[in-house]
Amino acid sequence: MAKINKILIIGSGGREHAIGWRIAQSKRAGKIFFAPGNGGTKKIGTNVEIKATDIKGILEFAQRERIDLTLALPDDPLALGIVDLFEKNGLRVWGPTKAASKLEWSKAFAKDFMQRHNLPTAKFEIFDNFEKAKSYIETQSFPIVIKASGLALGKGVVICKNKEGASKTLENILVKKIFGDSGNEVVIEEFLVGPEISIHVFSDGENYKMLPPSQDHKKIGEQDTGLNTGGMGTIAPLPFMSEKLMVEIEKTIVAPTLAAMQKEGNPFVGLLYPGLILTKNGPRILEFNVRFGDPETQTYMRLLETDILDIFDACIDKKLDKLEIKWKDLYGCTIVLASGGYPENYEKGKIISGIEEAQKDPAIVVFHAGTKRDEKENLITNGGRVLGVSATGESLQLALVKAYEAVLKISFSGMQYRKDIGQSALKISNYPN
Ligand code: AMP
Ligand code: GLY
Repeated sequence: MAKINKILIIGSGGREHAIGWRIAQSKRAGKIFFAPGNGGTKKIGTNVEIKATDIKGILEFAQRERIDLTLALPDDPLALGIVDLFEKNGLRVWGPTKAASKLEWSKAFAKDFMQRHNLPTAKFEIFDNFEKAKSYIETQSFPIVIKASGLALGKGVVICKNKEGASKTLENILVKKIFGDSGNEVVIEEFLVGPEISIHVFSDGENYKMLPPSQDHKKIGEQDTGLNTGGMGTIAPLPFMSEKLMVEIEKTIVAPTLAAMQKEGNPFVGLLYPGLILTKNGPRILEFNVRFGDPETQTYMRLLETDILDIFDACIDKKLDKLEIKWKDLYGCTIVLASGGYPENYEKGKIISGIEEAQKDPAIVVFHAGTKRDEKENLITNGGRVLGVSATGESLQLALVKAYEAVLKISFSGMQYRKDIGQSALKISNYPN
């Protein structure tokens, strides 16, 4: 396969570092640019100071630099239509169009879509009017889930235990507009119970290839307590998931979703990530994401055998059916190290130490998220989620032991992390039996 001389990766998180890291191992990879990147991406490519949401700025840069392939990874530029803009200008770009991304940027659209196509999901109603939403919750049982329809940095979902809490949440979103225009509509839905999993699927619009199942840990506190975060740690593949269950998910969720997108005139090209909950009555879709998960990707990149550039090409050129995607016969995990106070207020600028020491073990790769270099080239914290310590091993237990050993070597003031990543998965024996 031909060399790709200049590759541009949009975004600045651990996901972007992990994909850049995997690309850097490809014989096909030329120069890698990140817009804007972080303290880790700087080591494998060139950071360009353009925000991921400045899609015109990114286009101008790509034209000026004659970028051969751009990867649109975060949700915001996708929702702004970066893929449409690049395609209109004749540039090669990987990711879904604005219309296909609506599955993520409008939860109201996504729920209607699921209903239209009989996809398994929680029962729901959509409201844009506070009084009407309030009278609806009068008739409901609790807990109940209220979601701002638009993008809200993973914070737009509130589980309400009683009527008073629900009423207050509705007021915050629909009247006080705490999520701005993202809260012009709310989805109110049934509360579901069961383990949550992340499904990832590459799609070229017609053909698809599923990745192994993974699991994130979204709450800040151990045993899934406290506030929601962007994700505190992931494992893959999931030891409790049977082949049969993966086939059920493929048949009832993945294939019909992609076929429906095609039928509605918005074929999905890129990576689709349905977040599922495995209820007693079967898998249900919690949400659709139209991009790689973060920190799922950090774990996936450790396990992926196939050249990722071949996968991006196959998606864009509608040749996924011809590509065999291989995975290492290993388990992987990623433990997120976060700033003290995250996901609420936290300080930045703390010096980070111990990464090199941690990476002496070949099982370990430390991916950067909220990091940067200061004037003296010290590595300092620059965000809520700072690092993702990933490990691989012959079993999930082994990978976790390795990762936590590495975590102990890294430090920065206020550092916090969950010590129970993977533990609930290890306790489940063979869902749903
Ligand atoms: P979402 O952004 O829609 O994935 O929601 C964020 C988190 O809220 C999920 O990871 C779940 O833990 C929780 N959640 C969302 N919808 C439901 C639901 N219908 N029932 C139970 N928990 C939910
Ligand atoms: N892993 C959570 C997310 O990427 O939305």
